[in-house]
This record gives sequence, C-alpha cells and structure tokens, in this order.
Amino acid sequence: MLTHRYDSYIFHMIPITSTEIDKLTTGCSVQVIGTIVTSQGKQPVEVASQSIRVIGACPADSYPLAKKRHSLEYLRTIAHLRPRTNTIAAVARVRSTLAGAIHSFFQQSGFVYVQTPLITASDCEGAGEMFRVTTLDIDNVSKLPMKMDDDGKTKLDSVDYNQDFFGKPAFLTVSGQLGGETHACALGDIYTFGPTFRAENSQTTRHLAEFNMVEPEMAFADLNAAMDNAENMLKYVVGQTLEKCTEDLDFFNNFYDKGLKERLDKVVNTPFTRVSYREAIEYLQEEIAKDPSKWQFPDVKFGTDLATEHERWLAETKFNSCTFVYNYPKKIKAFYMRDNDEDGGETVNAMDLLVPGVGELVGGSQREDRLDVLLTKMKELDLNPDDYWWYLDLRRFGSVPHAGYGLGFERLVCYATGIDNIREAIAFPRYPGNAEF
Ligand code: 4AD
Ligand code: MG
Repeated sequence: MLTHRYDSYIFHMIPITSTEIDKLTTGCSVQVIGTIVTSQGKQPVEVASQSIRVIGACPADSYPLAKKRHSLEYLRTIAHLRPRTNTIAAVARVRSTLAGAIHSFFQQSGFVYVQTPLITASDCEGAGEMFRVTTLDIDNVSKLPMKMDDDGKTKLDSVDYNQDFFGKPAFLTVSGQLGGETHACALGDIYTFGPTFRAENSQTTRHLAEFNMVEPEMAFADLNAAMDNAENMLKYVVGQTLEKCTEDLDFFNNFYDKGLKERLDKVVNTPFTRVSYREAIEYLQEEIAKDPSKWQFPDVKFGTDLATEHERWLAETKFNSCTFVYNYPKKIKAFYMRDNDEDGGETVNAMDLLVPGVGELVGGSQREDRLDVLLTKMKELDLNPDDYWWYLDLRRFGSVPHAGYGLGFERLVCYATGIDNIREAIAFPRYPGNAEF
C-alpha cells in the first residue's frame, strides 16, 4: 500500500524462506507482497503472500508489548509504544474524528477559529492553578533579581519580575476565554480549540495538567443560547463519530462499555435535561436523606460546589441523560459571569453540562457585560482591575451581551469511547509526578 512512497522496495520479490519466516516476531515491520483474499479465519480479509521481507526486526525477548492483553496502567508506562495496541489506536482514531467534527460544526455554523495565546498574565478562572513561565535562573536562588525597598538598597522578599523575560509574571493559560471574548465582541461568533494547562494537584481519572479545550464565544447571546449551542454541537460530533467510527465504537462497546452505543445514540436523539442549581440541590438532598452513609459528601446545601459523586448521580441516576445545571451560586463561580438580577443577587448565569460516566463535560456562562457590575465583582474578589484593563475595555467601548462555554476535549474522548481514565484519552498524559515522553 505504501510502496509509492518507499520505492526501493517496489516489486522486490523475495522468495519466502524459512530464515525470513524465523525473523517474523511480534512488533517487527514487514513488507509483504501478495493478494488480498477473503479470510478463512476470524478477520474479514488476509494476504496470500508470495514474498515476505522483514524490514525492521524486533527482538522478542526485549519488546515490551507481548502478544497478549496488557493492562492500561502498564501501557501508560510505555506510552511511546501503546498506539500499536488495538485500544489506544482506536482511541486515537475516534479522537481525530471528534476533532474534525468539532471544526466542521463551528465552521459550518459560521464561527471564526481563533488561536488565543498559551502564555498569559491573567488567571481566567481565578483559581490560582497556573504554571509559571520564566527564564529566570531558579537554580541559582541567591542570584535571582529581587525587588528593592524604596531606599533602593534593601532587598525585599519577593522576586523582581520586571527583570524576567516578559517584564511581568507570566503563566501558561488555564483557558482561552478572555482572549476569545475580544474576538467575539468584534467578529460575532468565534471558537478556540487548543491546549490549556492547570496545576491542580489532582490524581483523578478526570483531570490532566495539560488538556485541550474547545471554547466558543457568541456575541448577542445569553445563557440559553450557550446551552443550545453546546447541545447542538455535541449531538453533531457524536453523530459524526457514530457514522464514521463504526468499527472502533463496536470494539469499545464489546470490550469496555456494553452500553456505549446505546448511550451515544441517545445523545443524538434525545433532548438534554435542563435543571436549575436550586432544583438540583433539592433532588440531591432528598436522595441523600434516604441514606447519608452512601455518600462521601452528604452535606449538600445552596452554596455547595457539587462533587463528582453528586454530578454523576444527577446525570446517571436521576435523569439518565446529558444534564445542564444552570444558575449557580455566585460565590462558587468565576468573576466574569453575569449576575442574575432577578434571583436575589445570589446566582450567576452559569451552566455546567453533566454527562453519564464522566460528570462535568462543559462549563459555560453568559458574561458580565456591565462595566460597573464587573468592577464591583472584581473588587469583591480582590482582583486588580489594572491587570484586566483590556478585558474591561470590551465593556467600555460598545459592550455586547455575550456568552460561551468550554468543553474539555479529553473528557469528550472518554465519553465517546467509554474509556474510564482520561490518561488514555491523550497521547502523552501530563499529571502530577509525570511528564515522561
Ligand atoms: O469549567 P471550566 O474551568 O471553564 C472554563 O475554563 C471557562 N473559561 C470556559 C469558557 O466559558 N470558555 O473548564 C471547562 C471544561 C470543564 O467542563 C472540563 O470538561 C474541562 O474543561 N476541564 C478539564 N479537563 C481535563 N483536565 C482538567 N484538569 C480540566 N479542568 C477542566
Ligand atoms: Mg467548571
């Protein structure tokens, strides 16, 4: 198949000898010339070979991938070789199809693709989970440039980032949203799709330190528009995957998650549930009261940041469908979300999409577009408006009601494949204690 780009091997018929056959080991690369015929075995086709040549030998005694089933945990330790396995190859194909479908959906809907910077000075989510970017020589602590006291002689206890590469503290971005908003407020509808980084010290099956996020931002749009768009987008990309990755999805359905295809069909064909945070809390309280000992976090009330067990109960047991929870308490959400004036000032126009098996897949909101309200919120959260001068300008100069969301791409890969751990959803996972490969 590849001979046209590997000319030296074209039509070099090598007679099949026993010495060549002896070199055939698991993992070797070969050139086979023959005819593709219907197989007598389990697979649909096979090659009736006339010539076999081993191109790259593979010593059986040291090759880490034996011809047997390996655990996913073991495969993670050989992430450079694991795409050679059925499972990881299938994940890679589904992932690629999902990425293509995401671009198609937004391109067909007239959204402009914007690449926002990975290096930033602002903490979008305000959660202080950013990786620092610096060229200061931190191996040489005694030589670090330090801030000076007013007298100019006494060193203070803090590093002088004016002397760092960017002349100020810089970090890897946790989200492209703030940059995305600048373009939505100029172009209309935009989306970003790229890497984001979070220094959360969590070893869960849902968190990576480096992951990809899809972040659409829509001008003249409210929270309902963001939920509608997220629902339509998911229905489209899951539908495309069902259509284009039939064999791979059958494989996952058989070996990893018996309910997978039925669940994905349901995503495409059934409207998502929408429930307010207040209602969600009531449902949870009712359920937890039946047997609090079953819950790791039984104390749920207005203001509780829902834990994964709560999110999964809502999506898996209570509603058994993709579920938007909206109108969250202000104090557990980010500064940029629009206050809900009609709700006693207690909630913001935020939504999370919870999905069976994964929990939170999407987080989004209508943005606070009123300058005075935004400034007050920033003050309450101790954020310095000077650091966000350009973000505030969007509210100073022709402010626009706008809304958007972020979808965790690797969580979508888990959801679409039924793979349990997010560390299998990306080629080379980064998490606390691991940056191998
Ligand atoms: O809910 P989050 O934090 O929202 C934002 O960052 C907004 N600025 C997005 C926006 O409105 N433009 O993150 C969005 C999604 C989550 O719902 C989750 O799917 C995923 O990103 N996510 C992670 N995925 C893998 N590993 C992590 N550590 C993640 N943190 C968030
Ligand atoms: Mg979130």
